Amino acid sequence: MLDALPAEVSICEVSPRDGLQNEAAPLPLADKVTLIRALLAAGLKRIELTSFVSPRWIPQLADAEELIRTLPAPEGVTFSALVPNATGLERALRVGIGEIAVFLSASETHNKKNTNKSIEQSLETFREVVPPARAAGLRVRAYVSTVWGCPYEGAVSMTRALEIARALLALDCYQVSLGDTIGVGTPAQTKQIVTAFLAEIPAAQLALHFHDTRGTALANCLVGLELGIRDFDASVAGLGGCPYAPGAAGNLATEDLVFMLHGMGIRTGVDLDLLIEAGRIAETVVGRPLPGKVHQAGQPKLRGV
Ligand code: HMG
Ligand code: MG
Repeated sequence: MLDALPAEVSICEVSPRDGLQNEAAPLPLADKVTLIRALLAAGLKRIELTSFVSPRWIPQLADAEELIRTLPAPEGVTFSALVPNATGLERALRVGIGEIAVFLSASETHNKKNTNKSIEQSLETFREVVPPARAAGLRVRAYVSTVWGCPYEGAVSMTRALEIARALLALDCYQVSLGDTIGVGTPAQTKQIVTAFLAEIPAAQLALHFHDTRGTALANCLVGLELGIRDFDASVAGLGGCPYAPGAAGNLATEDLVFMLHGMGIRTGVDLDLLIEAGRIAETVVGRPLPGKVHQAGQPKLRGV
């Protein structure tokens, strides 16, 4: 335990998308821009900004084009956005963004509730999205949701999740982010899932996306880290959830992940003080307390240090 740790880890900050998609009311554009600028100031280099999904389904992100036009990606930073179908890709190409992410679930019911499609129909749709996106020079990431459990079906087949991940990589997605969408995973299950995926897929093509609904996200990350995963998704102050997954709370808080990694001597490129500041801004703009542990407790002030 703890003897196979890397020197560096890459974080994909998902709060502007996974966080704000779940807010009861859409946030003003200016508040989104303030939050994203604070995340950039903290040193985050990969930020999922928004989604080109149906504004009827996710009104909170209906300003995707306006946001991207207002805030072009600074040098060395990748901004990405979710794309569910060809209409979403057209929108992404029209406004211009460096990276998109396609998404589907490992369980049929969640996929249907989230995208109005069966898993096969989603994969079929991505055959119309990923190749043209790649031809246009975009990087394409992919999410597989509900790998640890589905809010409607309970246990999920790992074989099915692996099949889906393989299909996404075969389409030329550069990475598949495995989601514990409703935060039901525990470390032993994470070991089983990540080990099975790593037997077939190189670590660089996998990321982990934990929601911290039951407080196990960081423990699950540690297991992934030990097994060789170097890419983790997180959301500042633990903002977020999935509107089509009842019971899904916020993602693992980015501050909690960074605090743990830095404490173990692992670099992230993020300044934790500035990240805590970004978390305070997130709390101000959403107007309610956010659950992240480091967000609430701050940096430790140890006697004699
Ligand atoms: P649908 O209603 O079946 O769509 O929704 P449709 O193809 O039948 O079209 C209906 C209307 O929507 C048409 O307009 C389309 O043009 C329009 P009309 O002719 O009626 O005026 N439309 C669009 N408009 C703008 N942008 C688009 C678009 N597509 C169609 N891209 C659809 C199907 C997939 C669009 C819908 O179900 C949808 O947008 N779903 C997205 C839901 C979502 O964003 N969920 C949260 C993200 S996933 C998540 O959080 C999990 C994750 O974090 C990982 C994890 O935690 O595990 C990633
Ligand atoms: Mg999520």
